[in-house]
This record gives sequence, C-alpha cells and structure tokens, in this order.
Amino acid sequence: MVGNLTSEDKGDFEHFMLKEIFDEPEALRQTLNGKIKDNKIVFSEFKFEAKDVNKIFIAGCGTAYHAGLVGRKAIEELAGIPVEIDLASEFAYRKVLWQAGDLLIVISQSGETADTLAALYKAKEAGIPVMAVVNVPDSTIARLSDIVIYTQAGPEISIASTKVYLTQLLVLYLLALFFAQEKDTLPAEELKAYINKIAAIDQQVEKALAQQPTIKEIASHYHNANNAFFLGRGYDYPVAMEGALKLKETSYVHAEAYAAGELKHGPIALINDDVLVMALFSQDALVEKTIPNINEIKSRGAITIIICKESLQKYCLEYKNRIVIPDTDPLLAPLVAVVPLQLFAYYMAVFRGTEVDNPRHLTKAVTVE
Ligand code: G6P
Repeated sequence: MVGNLTSEDKGDFEHFMLKEIFDEPEALRQTLNGKIKDNKIVFSEFKFEAKDVNKIFIAGCGTAYHAGLVGRKAIEELAGIPVEIDLASEFAYRKVLWQAGDLLIVISQSGETADTLAALYKAKEAGIPVMAVVNVPDSTIARLSDIVIYTQAGPEISIASTKVYLTQLLVLYLLALFFAQEKDTLPAEELKAYINKIAAIDQQVEKALAQQPTIKEIASHYHNANNAFFLGRGYDYPVAMEGALKLKETSYVHAEAYAAGELKHGPIALINDDVLVMALFSQDALVEKTIPNINEIKSRGAITIIICKESLQKYCLEYKNRIVIPDTDPLLAPLVAVVPLQLFAYYMAVFRGTEVDNPRHLTKAVTVE
C-alpha cells in the first residue's frame, strides 16, 4: 500500500509509476479540455491582460523545474517574452531586478513545496503577480497565487513524477501559444498549425508508449550499470535532465545530464565501457551537430542508447540500442521524447529491485526548505 490507496487502484499494473506513465494520454486530454476553442487558446483563469506581461520568471523544484526549462524556451520562441528561470531554492535568495510587467510562474505538482512557496512569497512582497501551475486542488501554492492553472493529471501516487510532468509541459506550451496569440507574435497560420499539433499530441504519446517492450528489453541488458549520462541539444537538453532525475530517483543509478556539446569540456574523461549514455535525437536542425559528440563517446566504449525520431532514423541505424519515437514538431518533442526515458527509469528500477513507487529518502512533497 502506498499513501492511502490500496494495490487495487493500480489496476493491472505492478506499480503506480507504470500506471501513471500509461495514464499520460488521458492526463493530457483532461488538461487540454476547454483550453482550445475555435482554433484559439482560452485561459479564462487570467485576471489581467496577457499582452501587458513584459517579462516572466519561472521557479520550481525537481521535475517541475525541468518542465519550466522547456516552458522558458517555448515562451521565448513563440511569444518573444524574455524568461528567467531559477531553481526555487535559489530564487528565494538572490537579488531579482523586478520591473513593471513582470509575472512569476511557480510550478508544483503538490502545491506544498517549501522552496517554491518561498519564491512565491518573494514575488508577492515585491507586488509582482504570481501564476501557479499546480496539480493538487486547493493546495497552499494554489490558494496564495493570483492566477491558478491546474494540471488535470489526477492524483499522482508514485513519488517520481511522470504524468504530471507531461501536463506541466502541456500547460506551459499552451501558455506560450496564448501569449503569442495575445501579443500577436506569430503569423496566424503558424499559430493555427501549432494549436492543431498540440491538440493531437496525446496520439504521439500513445505511439511512444508502444515502445515499452523495446525499452524493457534494453533495461534488462544494462540494469547493472552504475553510471549514466543523458545527452541532448536544444529542447532535448532539459528532457535529458528529466531523464537523469527519473533514473536517480527510482533506480539509484548515478546519472547526470549534459548538453551534448558540453560533454567534451571535461566530463568525457569519465567515459568508459562501464558508462551508459542515453542520447536524444528529436531536434532536426541539431542532429548533425550531436552525431559527432555521440560517436566520440561510442568510440570510447560507452554503452550507447539512442532515442531517435522516426524521420531521423538514417542518423541512428548504426546504433544497436535504438528507441524510435514518432515524428513530432521539434518544439513539442519534449512531450514525446521523455516518455521512453520514464519507462527506462521504471524498468531499470524494477530490474534492480528498488522500491519503485516509494524510493528511499524521498517524499512526494518536501515541506522544509
Ligand atoms: C520532491 C520530489 C520530486 C519533485 C519535487 C517538486 O523533491 O521528490 O520528484 O519533482 O519535490 O515537487 P512539487 O510538488 O513542487 O512539484
């Protein structure tokens, strides 16, 4: 028994984590519900003109922070609003140069994380509006924020967050498109195309989930590895960070994420045939830059696993351990590319015999700073 739910709530799944990963398409549909009407993004939660927002700050911890990193890129790229992002535990204690037109977005599954609350208080003291992206209704962060946008993922029991991360990403993409719409920063056709793609993203996630048997097989071969690197460029980099966190949390394997181009500036000294490297190839414009980085690692004997988009297969064929993900717009790819990383962390944990849903030393909501 985990929390106050019995094992029956897991249905046919062995663990909540696996169930929650397979809940993702439905969690996305629930979160999307009511947000797109007549090809327009609707956020009735807004209490002021979105076009008056000149700068956005984002703060969160763990998985929520990783969602924010993707959100930052999307908001800057689509809406042209400058974004600063901080780990909430750092944000609270640094000097922030607030200006009129600023907005703080705090992201939290539980809505109770002390570090994230401290970031919220800091903005409130400065008279800056706070928007919360929260999963738990009526949580402290939800109650104290000026605008609350709920991720509609339903209760998440497994300590390692999976489905909520996807819904956090979805909300941030929708916000980026909403700001783009209100500030008129994208050609109408482009905006419409993104809206159509995001409305159908649940189907791409279903396709990514279908890779489960391949991922399980790969994890069964390499579950004894004790060190892992997760590499990606552009939007793949924050996804790599989330993949590394999932592996650490659930299977206790030492894992680090690096921007693919940065590995050569030091950490490559750690690469040998004991090290597992997960490389992400979902960014069409960057793949040719990433290939030489991965080849260098492979030639030093690392176990290399490639997460590769269907249309980029020609770059990946030479790699024995390949996980194919469906074609997705590069900007939206994190929603799909993270799914195999979550499944990989899950199966690594299962094969290593850890307490998958309840990892040692972790709690679902950390209420101390
Ligand atoms: C804890 C959990 C992490 C989670 C983080 C933020 O440290 O172990 O998995 O990402 O808190 O939680 P929150 O509820 O604020 O999203």
